[in-house]
Amino acid sequence: MEFQHKDLLGIKQLSREEIIGILNHAKKMKEIVLSDCKKTPDLQGKSVVTLFYENSTRTRMSFELASKYMSANAANITASGSSVAKGETLIDTARTLDSMGTDVIIVRHSSSGAPHLIAKNVKASVINAGDGMNEHPTQALLDMFTIKENKGRIAGLKVAIVGDVAHSRVARSDIYALTKLGAEVVVGGPSTLMPTEIEKLGAKAYPSVHEAMIDADVVIGLRIQQERQKSGLIPSLREYHRFFGVDDQRMKFAKPDALLMHPGPVNRGVELTSAIMGTDASKINEQVTNGVAVRMAVLDILTKGGIIE
Ligand code: CP
Repeated sequence: MEFQHKDLLGIKQLSREEIIGILNHAKKMKEIVLSDCKKTPDLQGKSVVTLFYENSTRTRMSFELASKYMSANAANITASGSSVAKGETLIDTARTLDSMGTDVIIVRHSSSGAPHLIAKNVKASVINAGDGMNEHPTQALLDMFTIKENKGRIAGLKVAIVGDVAHSRVARSDIYALTKLGAEVVVGGPSTLMPTEIEKLGAKAYPSVHEAMIDADVVIGLRIQQERQKSGLIPSLREYHRFFGVDDQRMKFAKPDALLMHPGPVNRGVELTSAIMGTDASKINEQVTNGVAVRMAVLDILTKGGIIE
């Protein structure tokens, strides 16, 4: 199958077939991640750089490990440790990396559209590792992989995305992916954290978490993003947890075999209880493992000129 893109900027731009193609390719990559010999020659001779203007553990490290498992030259650059701190612009920074012969630039930025701007100005493939409140496409792909692996399908499932929907790029990318793959998507959370236009994306919105979770096959909890919130959107974290946190009582609204997912990092005791994170329903650690496999698949597809074998 062909993948007709230089970059991976969002799920919005992908077709259903392209998403399925990436997920199928990631299945093969997961075998490598779980094997005793995590080394393939797929990216030999290629250079992959992560350019992160925001903090990250999972996304940055999984891209770095994915690159190394596939024999790429992998390097990292952060805003605070680079000439960005001396005032170099986003485009000049990206062009500098491009001029060094970088094949793939992986970007995280607090501004929506920053990776799109870079993609227009460099020869390298650009991967969006999270831009403001817009998209986080590789998170959505690993979420789809985790759901498919556990449930055997995505079409026809009811998926509840609950919490701070307003500030979540994961919610947007997940809604695009889930609706393209035929799932029913509902969102739930405080009305102050629910964007008015969300139903235009194809997700039904509820002003509570438990209503959204009724008969859900999958519950995706979202982090309260205090760093992006204006003050006063929630009274306090303690009250948020009381009325909107996912605990064992609220989880009973979902189907008995429902999966519990979260992109991480989790504010324990706020959006999820530690107890619910320790149950068999929780797939949070599997999501992290699958993140490496999915990112290997994305790097492989982009560097091979877009052909999925
Ligand atoms: N899910 C996610 O993007 O986590 P990090 O911020 O740790 O990369």
